[in-house]
Amino acid sequence: MSVLVTGGAGYIGSHTCVELLDAGYDIAVVDNYSNSSPESLRRVKEITGREFPVYEADLRDEEALDRIFSENRFDSVIHFAGLKSVGESVAHPIEYYGNNIGSTLSLCRQMKKHGVKKFVFSSSATVYGTPKEVPIREDAPLGPTTNPYGETKLMIERILDDTRKSGALGSVIILRYFNPIGAHESGLLGEDPNEIPNNLLPYITQVSVGRLKKLSVYGNDYDTPDGPCIRDYIHVVDLAKAHIKALERAETVKDVTEVYNVGTGKGYSVFEIIRAFEKASGKKIPYKVTGRRPGDVAVSYSDPSLARKVLGWEAEYDIDRMCRDAYRWQTMNPSGYRNDN
Ligand code: NAD
Ligand code: UFG
Repeated sequence: MSVLVTGGAGYIGSHTCVELLDAGYDIAVVDNYSNSSPESLRRVKEITGREFPVYEADLRDEEALDRIFSENRFDSVIHFAGLKSVGESVAHPIEYYGNNIGSTLSLCRQMKKHGVKKFVFSSSATVYGTPKEVPIREDAPLGPTTNPYGETKLMIERILDDTRKSGALGSVIILRYFNPIGAHESGLLGEDPNEIPNNLLPYITQVSVGRLKKLSVYGNDYDTPDGPCIRDYIHVVDLAKAHIKALERAETVKDVTEVYNVGTGKGYSVFEIIRAFEKASGKKIPYKVTGRRPGDVAVSYSDPSLARKVLGWEAEYDIDRMCRDAYRWQTMNPSGYRNDN
């Protein structure tokens, strides 16, 4: 089985490449490195001891994409490539709609042209907007989304389903990720944001190695047991493994679009995460409580039972393991992939 992995040099893509190669899949990666570096893929090869083709190209460059599909015989595509910063999407909506929607459309056109029918897509819990109830099930109402990034995910889900209904795609498996954190246990792969992190865990890990001084906790006046927001954090390796199950599913079903939550089903507050990280690292994380961040929902966690029932997938790693692996990655690579550390 041969899989094209778009955005495979990124945080989740690189971890998924390892799981795919270890499971015996052949892969090729296409990435424009707009938010990643070739170093992550070099390390994927080091970890797995396997070679694979890597194409530096923008997915919107259809001539390049056409060549990639012509040079390979793919059975399926996992589509990670996209811009993912919520705040940046509010400041640069044209770029976000252009990149995320444009990439998906050219991918669909080339898959149709080359007869590649199986599609696994990285969606997000953000499509649920402000959830009416938790845990969130896949049949919960969608939107309204609070930012252009979230809207691109909702639009792409629709585009893929419409394309599949037209017969151009055979099976579409949509994975709605909750909050991926952690890193590969080797310490060679992890999350490496380009600028000051927007997300909680990379911010905490950078505080732990002295790159940043103090964490801001965005509000402790939510209607939650200890005040801050609650999220469903999932180990990136568990998430990567869900893609293998999704591919197996895409191989067995036909003419369907299916949606699965990928989370642990457990919610942790920001304070609980700080404590878990301090325990895992033995480091104190200085923080101050500031105002709420606009657009944050108070409580979000998944009902992951559908994935367990249908895909046979379940998260294995707990919050302590997530924090330990994140800390190991940051201490082994204090500047991420940017230097040899
Ligand atoms: P990432 O930024 O690390 O990886 C995305 C990769 O796509 C990068 O390597 C980037 O260079 C590449 N890319 C972007 N636009 C491209 C284009 N036009 N052509 C070719 N390559 C392009 O992000 P990630 O955290 O690994 O996320 C992967 C996917 O999962 C994204 O679609 C993201 O929206 C989705 N997702 C992420 C999270 C999260 O918290 N990390 C949560 C839910 C969903
Ligand atoms: N937080 C802080 N301080 C920080 C960063 C975050 O207190 O410096 C808090 C937030 O207020 C929130 C929690 O930590 O309560 C988690 O925030 P993240 O930014 O790490 O994650 P979000 O839940 O806001 O967003 C993530 C992804 C989105 C995705 C969304 C829903 O970044 O791409 O999950 O799945 F859409």
